[in-house]
Amino acid sequence: MTVTIVGSQLGDEGKGGIVDLYGDSADVVVRYQGGDNAGHTVVHGDETYKLSLVPSGAVRGKTGVLGNGCVVNPETLFEEVDALAERGLDPDVRVAERAHVILPYHRVLDGIEEAEKEDLAAGTTGRGIGPTYEDKAGRRGIRVGDLLDADVLRQRLEYVVPQKRALYSEVFGGDPDDPELDGAFDVETLFERYRTYGERIAEEGMAVDCGAFLDDRLEAGDDVMMEGAQGTSIDIDHGIYPYVTSSNPTAGGASTGTGLGPTVVGQGEVVGIVKAYLSRVGTGPLPTEMGHVEGQTPEDGGDTSDEAEEIATYIRDEGGEYGTVTGRPRRVGWLDMPMLRHAARANGFTGLAVNHLDVLAGLDPVKVGHAYEMDGEERRSMPATTEQWGRCTATYREFDGWEAVDWAAVAEEGYDALPENARTFLEYISDELDTPIYAVGVGPGRDETVVVENPF
Ligand code: GDP
Ligand code: IMO
Ligand code: MG
Repeated sequence: MTVTIVGSQLGDEGKGGIVDLYGDSADVVVRYQGGDNAGHTVVHGDETYKLSLVPSGAVRGKTGVLGNGCVVNPETLFEEVDALAERGLDPDVRVAERAHVILPYHRVLDGIEEAEKEDLAAGTTGRGIGPTYEDKAGRRGIRVGDLLDADVLRQRLEYVVPQKRALYSEVFGGDPDDPELDGAFDVETLFERYRTYGERIAEEGMAVDCGAFLDDRLEAGDDVMMEGAQGTSIDIDHGIYPYVTSSNPTAGGASTGTGLGPTVVGQGEVVGIVKAYLSRVGTGPLPTEMGHVEGQTPEDGGDTSDEAEEIATYIRDEGGEYGTVTGRPRRVGWLDMPMLRHAARANGFTGLAVNHLDVLAGLDPVKVGHAYEMDGEERRSMPATTEQWGRCTATYREFDGWEAVDWAAVAEEGYDALPENARTFLEYISDELDTPIYAVGVGPGRDETVVVENPF
């Protein structure tokens, strides 16, 4: 069977940890969208693994597959595979021949467009994700399969690179031959470098026809976990466009991004990963936001009262909500139920994992954005345009808080050992979404998750 893990909010809900937890029972872990814009954390005792591309199951010796819906930067792929090997693991990673390749010019163009867009910039990760998906849709992309055939690779590069040079110089006014670009717009340099990646992929037997590969494994009785990256509200179709990523993290992406039919995915389980509050890296509105982060919170956004700023700082400190690279504070807000109702519908969740319950401990009351008010009317789900969403104000429900306890002990004892007020909060979420709770995260470690149900 399959179990699909989907972020139900804005990314960083703790998907990596849940994939690790349930992945124990899986044989194959496949990513179906996105690329090295993800950052999935797996904590095993004292060891912390941060993976941006390789599926989290690689940490447990599972076969990891990058599905056809992914965009693959081979440089990151090999860096991560080699880094895992250096830590004593032997990662078995496969890549779909149909997956598109991120080239250096995609990264360069991602950065420039973000700078040009000003207010419409999403605050991308700068990994070239959007430009690569653009080329995929524009039928000028280069796929993993193309790296394995020198003639095809050269032909594709000779077609596309002159276009990218013209875009870079004539639209954005840059010099494509600037030595600082390290050959990002040079056919020969790209050919040599990407041909070498292709040879390594071939030598290590990494290239697969993803759908056929997974189907064979399922036929043989194996269990497959689908690891979503990003989250529903930054999905290109169902998210807060244009402040979104360029792929479909939602459950439908698990079918198109792997080559397994929707009935196969639908016969399995779809587990929504929920953070007990909101965190956001990037721009755009956020109705339940507390405090204000320079450069990301819109000018009129965020509750900037002293109390809200104080709670925001508390959540950031307790939850480590600071950029891993930049150390910049992340935007934070109360849990947003209209966002979750939207996610539950778009994904058809069969179960929920609610993470970071420990982070809210010590706050009293704990608030939840129960509904929105927009233009004088109540709304229970997200509106379809981001402009409308920006006009929504949240109406809150308050829950009595809970204190920090020995979370590892609670995780061992089980659900009933959770503080009563925390259970009330969880049951509210479950009732509102009409979806059972499968797991509750009470800390980053593997032993800090209360398991109610294993979907496998
Ligand atoms: P992902 O992108 O959805 O996989 O999530 P990230 O790894 O980017 O961010 C989640 C962060 O929170 C990581 O540092 C996790 O180790 C940590 N984490 C996950 N679940 C919990 C939890 O229940 N409580 C706490 N305190 N931290 C958690
Ligand atoms: P994981 O898998 C949080 C955000 C970026 C930006 C927007 C577009 O760790 O949950 P992109 O580089 O994808 O074109 O950026 O999406 N973003 C994420 N935010 N978690 C992620 O991944 C993200 N991946 C992209 O901040 O607003
Ligand atoms: Mg992340």
